[in-house]
Amino acid sequence: MTTVAVIPGDGIGPEVVGPALDVLDALGLGVRTDVLDHVNARTYLRTGAAMTGDDLDRVRRSGATLLGAVGDPRLSGTGYVRGVLTTLRAELDVYVNYRPARLWHDRLSPLRDPARRAVDCVIVRENTEGLYSGIGGGSRAGTPHEIAIDVDLNTRRGVSRVLEFAFSVARRSVCLVDKANAVRNGGRLWQRCWSEAVARYPHVEASHLYVDTAAMRLATDPAAFDVIVTSNSYGDILSDLAAALAGGIGMAASANLNPATGQGLFEPVHGSAPDIAGTGTANPLGAILSVALLAEHLGRAEEADAVRRAVAAAVAAGRVTADLGGSLSTGEAGGAVLAELGQPAGRARTRRRNHRLGEDG
Ligand code: NAI
Ligand code: MG
Repeated sequence: MTTVAVIPGDGIGPEVVGPALDVLDALGLGVRTDVLDHVNARTYLRTGAAMTGDDLDRVRRSGATLLGAVGDPRLSGTGYVRGVLTTLRAELDVYVNYRPARLWHDRLSPLRDPARRAVDCVIVRENTEGLYSGIGGGSRAGTPHEIAIDVDLNTRRGVSRVLEFAFSVARRSVCLVDKANAVRNGGRLWQRCWSEAVARYPHVEASHLYVDTAAMRLATDPAAFDVIVTSNSYGDILSDLAAALAGGIGMAASANLNPATGQGLFEPVHGSAPDIAGTGTANPLGAILSVALLAEHLGRAEEADAVRRAVAAAVAAGRVTADLGGSLSTGEAGGAVLAELGQPAGRARTRRRNHRLGEDG
């Protein structure tokens, strides 16, 4: 039986993972969950370690992992969040960050012209290299001559495998986004790998934009895009922009994938949102749509589509949280999706361990 490892995390992470697990449960996939609810800031503050080797083993053994969000206002540095996110991404070598942006209802778009606002694209973000490589250093700290260097790491292997993935999921077109005119060495490597990938996919329309132009085009004509493939940092920024155009960060979903090993880590794009944690207003749709990606990863495309149809129906009916213009709580918004799936209201079961989803009600 397939196991899904679950890391609820901090802040609104556990709050949105509850409804997401209810939806996973409702799909009856016959999977069991392994909840690592001790992987959070509280443990880190006590022990100084974000994840143990045993935690990583449990994640590695699972068929997929669902993550809420990590981050805590008591921890000002990046050590803890990197300790979880970067460790998971690096240890699992999930080199693709797959971030779909789709406008679920007209009402959610900030763009006026209906034809232009039909957002339905995917940002394929390189997930293990680039400016987030963690390589760098500094010197002369605190002096007027202080310097700080963060290395923008690009490898042929890293670049060519993420480009290959982008073409493999394209419906119409792939657009490469970089800043090769200013960031020359990495730019040239991406451009060389790009020419090779374009030649392998003659039937997919290929285009190239510099990141500044891409940001402008995405804001003014998002319907023009199908797949955007780009580096770690540009993908981070453009996917937040795409999420905002599609109704907001609260419903943006993502998958971290290694198509070669089959590893998959699924998480809403948002963080732990300490400003609204505990108020019961967090939008669970980003986490629920991440469950749809997880189901797809487990070979259950039909169930994934059922979740998406249920989300679209709940959004159309206005049965959503305040960030999308509704008045429902996190639990009620999750319940609205469950109702569309023809299921009774959920139990927001983040704390139950090792139970069989779909087999115990
Ligand atoms: P954030 O995504 O947590 O929040 C940004 C804004 O969006 C806030 O105003 C928040 O209230 C709102 N928001 C986020 N999710 C929402 C939801 N589901 N429903 C309604 N509103 C929502 O980003 P922020 O504030 O920059 O970071 C907070 C903490 O989360 C930090 O510790 C950061 O390091 C961490 N973080 C973790 C991530 C992860 O676990 N993947 C990703 C981004 C940040
Ligand atoms: Mg981000």
